[in-house]
Amino acid sequence: MQPFLLCLLAGVGLLAAACDAPPAEAPKPVHLPPVPPGELRSPEAFASIRDNDARAASLFLEASKVLLHPRCVNCHPHDGVPRQGDSGGRHNPPVERGQRDRGLAALECTSCHQAQNLDFARVPGAPGWHLAPVEMAWLGRTPAAICAQVKDPARNGKKTLAQIVEHSAHDELVAWGWAPGHGRTKAPGSQAQFGALIDAWVKAGAACPPEEARP
Ligand code: HEC
Ligand code: HEC
Repeated sequence: MQPFLLCLLAGVGLLAAACDAPPAEAPKPVHLPPVPPGELRSPEAFASIRDNDARAASLFLEASKVLLHPRCVNCHPHDGVPRQGDSGGRHNPPVERGQRDRGLAALECTSCHQAQNLDFARVPGAPGWHLAPVEMAWLGRTPAAICAQVKDPARNGKKTLAQIVEHSAHDELVAWGWAPGHGRTKAPGSQAQFGALIDAWVKAGAACPPEEARP
């Protein structure tokens, strides 16, 4: 008998279970504990997801709450202009990426940005302040696209996954996202939590979320 005839029979109460059952390949809904805005779930919150790829994808989505935060995206643009503030407006005063991502010879990023925040002048700072290279751009990209490029040695500065974990957990420009100075919104959670999520993502096999997934 055709499947659709079987389902017609369900109307008279027969075979109802067979017709209600979801198709075998349907992904199971994931129920994660809720977290307030501005906080992150810890890796343990994902332990109930048994499938490694599904768990890795969910862990990366959680980490992308940080990756897509203005404190991070503003320094990871796809063009020559850093962004500013929570609305991501273009850098004012006008500055340029330059050939080495450090500004133009006459006006390097570090002419203004010092090794720490200069709060009286509103200038944010951290050691070696400069733009992420274009191949590491996140502005306007999906978590899926960012995940793919972060894993790709041709686009991630030839880093191993272990080096990505290390960078996430300890880099000083990353750290600035949680101590941005002058009343700026900090990135969600803490750098230690962000590093732990990226570490757990790698240990689960570093699969990426689907293109349409959002944190
Ligand atoms: C001042 C600019 C600046 C800020 C702010 C910044 N980054 Fe970056 N980011 C960089 C630069 C420069 C690199 C390239 C470093 C390298 O390759 O050695 C980079 C690279 C990375 C990488 C490695 C990506 C890859 O594909 O290899 C990660 C992960 C990262 N940043 C995370 C963050 C996070 C998370 C934040 C916010 C909490 C952040 N960054 C904020 C400048 C910045
Ligand atoms: C002439 C001084 C000057 C130069 C040069 C300069 N900046 Fe800035 N930058 C500032 C000031 C001032 C702010 C703070 C603006 C504000 O918040 O009102 C700022 C803010 C930023 C922010 C925004 C942080 C945030 O999330 O709100 C980023 C990112 C940034 N600069 C990156 C760079 C990079 C990369 C370079 C070099 C290509 C650079 N800047 C060169 C003065 C400068």
